[in-house]
Amino acid sequence: MRIDPQQVESEIDTLAAISEQPAPVVTRVLFSDADLQARAFIKGLCRDAGLAWREDAAGNLFARWAGAEPGLPPVATGSHIDAIPNAGRYDGVVGVLGGIEAIRALRRDGFSPRRSIELIVFTAEEPTRFGLGCLGSRLLSGILPPAKAAALRDRDGRTLEEWRGRAGFAASNLGTVPLPAGCYSAFVELHIEQGPVLERENFPIGIVESIAGPSSLKLEITGVGGHAGAILMPERHDALLAGAEIALAVERAALASGSPDSVATTGVFRIEPGAVNSVPCRALLEMDVRDTRQDTRDQMLATIREATAATCRRRGVEWTLELVNADPPATCHAVVISALREVCAALKLPAKPMISRAYHDSLFMAQLCPTAMIFIPCRGGVSHRPDEYSSPAQIAAGVTVLAHALARLAE
Ligand code: HGY
Ligand code: MN
Ligand code: MN
Repeated sequence: MRIDPQQVESEIDTLAAISEQPAPVVTRVLFSDADLQARAFIKGLCRDAGLAWREDAAGNLFARWAGAEPGLPPVATGSHIDAIPNAGRYDGVVGVLGGIEAIRALRRDGFSPRRSIELIVFTAEEPTRFGLGCLGSRLLSGILPPAKAAALRDRDGRTLEEWRGRAGFAASNLGTVPLPAGCYSAFVELHIEQGPVLERENFPIGIVESIAGPSSLKLEITGVGGHAGAILMPERHDALLAGAEIALAVERAALASGSPDSVATTGVFRIEPGAVNSVPCRALLEMDVRDTRQDTRDQMLATIREATAATCRRRGVEWTLELVNADPPATCHAVVISALREVCAALKLPAKPMISRAYHDSLFMAQLCPTAMIFIPCRGGVSHRPDEYSSPAQIAAGVTVLAHALARLAE
């Protein structure tokens, strides 16, 4: 079976050019014009590959290759095409374009599946629009109630319902999105590692056996603003400084957790009014807290909550802290893991068992069906940056493993 790396490379180039920021930066936020344009491009590729596609009310895209026994639960693969600000061109995209190429290669090879094979392009894997990642796969797996999703608001107060209407999904109802358990016989996601391990240890393939559980917090601090010249220091209730202390406490919570896998990031920190001669009256922080172990992660969340209360009390500012999500880690399924191991052995591709520190839609697909992931190396472990890179040969190796795994699982 032959993979066409040049074809995949040119499609990666085309998709990377569909961005809200000039090259080499890729940004594609849920239901932006760039996102809608990218979706149209992917639908065209699915159509050209002979797949019947449909979209659900959340904008998840399903492209199916009907098998000989279409009544059986299909085998699925897929990932995402949305991208955070200042991102690269491979995160998510390798799993979508690689999935299409795996299907094209199997069809070129004359393979005909017993079970249908379905590509899924998940809507909003990234948290950028609403502060909650994996929106599409959370809804599919039933983890996120449709009513709660419909009420999500972006920074400008616009709801998911408004964004869905703008994207052309107004007529459909989010209540139709959740899928029943067993709807797929297996799910395999191809993704760049977004870390340095495979490159450092010179492995072409990683087989993900567990996915760290992400959590995120939204903190709003309300202090007392006013004239930077007139308010003397002892009278101040500066919202920015309270936020700054808490951002350092977030870092300390990870450093002091006792686990090398603990990470905590204040990725968003906005202040108001943002004038040089005005004491900040409001601060908005969004924090991302993770560990491969749920109890360690939850302990960090508790530590951050305590530090927030103490800092705000001492500085005389008001605060609200919202736990946006705190998801359990996922364990990948032995059946899919062994299929991947057997394929790599048959292809003589060394494969390293791994934990995924990044989260993926597989975290939620694992609630629906047996799931595992294929990782390929990315240069320097860099991701969520424009210099993110995996070579055509590295991508071809991942796509080859995926194609053989789909063929094996579709029998
Ligand atoms: O943040 C993550 O782990 C993923 O890349 N969205
Ligand atoms: Mn990402
Ligand atoms: Mn991703």
